[in-house]
Amino acid sequence: MINERLYKAMNEQIRNELESYYIYVSMAAYFHARNLDGMAHWMRCQAHEEMIHAMKFFDHIHDRGGKVVLMNLKQIKTEWTSVREVWQDTYEHEQFITGKINELTAISREEKDYTSEPLLSWFSNEQLEEESTSGKVLEQIKMVGDNQTGILLLDRELGARAFSPGSPLDPTAYSVAT
Ligand code: FEO
Repeated sequence: MINERLYKAMNEQIRNELESYYIYVSMAAYFHARNLDGMAHWMRCQAHEEMIHAMKFFDHIHDRGGKVVLMNLKQIKTEWTSVREVWQDTYEHEQFITGKINELTAISREEKDYTSEPLLSWFSNEQLEEESTSGKVLEQIKMVGDNQTGILLLDRELGARAFSPGSPLDPTAYSVAT
């Protein structure tokens, strides 16, 4: 059975991960509207990963005899003033999520809930990668500044990120006509 305090925090983390999913889909919409389809693609890949993160916590709670109670999502941002602002938000959001994973890890240790350690350790590594990747893109965006050619080159590069096979966010995995 999962520790009660950890259960509550993990249940809230499902909401945080689903909000992350929603945030990245919103950013994808912004980039598509600006014809930056490579950046939109990157955000769609990211959103897919966030749904997986939510489901990892979802399954962990159920595997340990708890019941997930889904919470309301807040209205998320739908407009940005620049490409740079989107990446700034991305980087800051990942830092926020890292803080949440650290809180979960602290609770699991205080409550001696050692069964959750492998899961939380996986998330710590994942956050290291997500902060590093989004921080690097942000720095590159700062480097190119207002140079449109630089933005387009970055757009191309970010469009090369691979989807997990069969991802529902991958438009090549489905047809809107069927
Ligand atoms: Fe699930 Fe990007 O943290």
